Amino acid sequence: MKLATKFIHAGATPDPSTGAIMTPVYLTSTYVQEAPGKNKGYEYARSQNPTRKALEDALAVIENGQFGLAFSSGVAATDAVLKLLSPGDEVVAGNDMYGGTYRLFTKVFEKFGIKFIYVDTTQAENIAAAITPNTKLVWLETPTNPLMNITDIAAVTKLAAAQKILVCVDNTFASPYLQNPLDLGADIVMHSSTKYLGGHSDVIQGALVMNSASLREQLYFIQKSSGAVPGPMDCFLVLRGIKTLHVRMRQHCENGAVVAQWLRQHPKVARVYWPGFEDSKNYAIAKQQMRDFGGMISFELKDDSHEAAMKVLSSTKVFSLAESLGGVESLINHPATMTHASIPREERIKNGLSDALIRLSVGIEDVEDLIEDLDNAIG
Ligand SMILES: Cc1ncc(COP(=O)(O)O)c(C=O)c1O
Repeated sequence: MKLATKFIHAGATPDPSTGAIMTPVYLTSTYVQEAPGKNKGYEYARSQNPTRKALEDALAVIENGQFGLAFSSGVAATDAVLKLLSPGDEVVAGNDMYGGTYRLFTKVFEKFGIKFIYVDTTQAENIAAAITPNTKLVWLETPTNPLMNITDIAAVTKLAAAQKILVCVDNTFASPYLQNPLDLGADIVMHSSTKYLGGHSDVIQGALVMNSASLREQLYFIQKSSGAVPGPMDCFLVLRGIKTLHVRMRQHCENGAVVAQWLRQHPKVARVYWPGFEDSKNYAIAKQQMRDFGGMISFELKDDSHEAAMKVLSSTKVFSLAESLGGVESLINHPATMTHASIPREERIKNGLSDALIRLSVGIEDVEDLIEDLDNAIG
């Protein structure tokens, strides 16, 4: 199936009791059994729910995987992957990634004896150099939040597979419309479904997709045991979001390209981070592994003072100042004080995330209105 057909029909089967074309929201905590152990495959809603099952089937289809698991948030999905590990195990992760992932790694899992080594993953050799006999997981984000760095997924999975190390790719920024990490050899794909999959800024949810039945069993066991399951209404919202992912993403990409090029020629803008510039360092890999370049853009003003950034951040009218991304409406964000505030300043600056960086989630409004808004704000 081609992309649009796949996104619209993924996981959708008419409801067996009525023929309803949309998956019903099964608001139930438990299921009546005919006799102990004799049931219809559903026992208790932390373990199974039909709306969640339809979504999990859809997640598997859209990421070209065998199995999908839906979680109560993106960080809950990441948390489950980390719980595959044991004290003493090591993780090689990117030095540019979502602040909440960094917080989970450093503030929660380090104290359970998991060691994290952060490297610039855009060069696969940096990962190779960081691997030790204790390395059990490579954690990639590509494009990264917020500097839009691109990692060559196929190159990393090749070197990790040779040493039996799992690779998990956070595919939130790209969405399955732009890239499918399992096709490039990844073991697990992770999503903050809160973002492009949901697409309407109305739900918090996470996802994991994988091919291995044994990994699915382990992750399902962790989920069932730890309890980070999404509610059925939220599953319905993400299922509905997926049906329009391709049309939304097409427009995010189209608008993103216009905004990125416009920003780049603006006399007050020093630097624009967007993987679609032909002269950007990761362009060749981005072009190879992604179908387009997305609507996430970061930039810095020539006046790199805190005040200049604050003026832009508080002046836009169409772009709303908010955390999150991937919804139909455009958002503007200040990573240093918002999404990435949990990363120590010194660490942030060392990895290129300045106090002056502004991040945009370009929505699907009329692009002329977006440009006019930025033009007024930047002045
Ligand atoms: C790249 C990335 N990964 C993971 C997450 C965490 O997802 P959630 O907020 O759904 O828990 C986010 C949230 O912003 C994100 O941007």
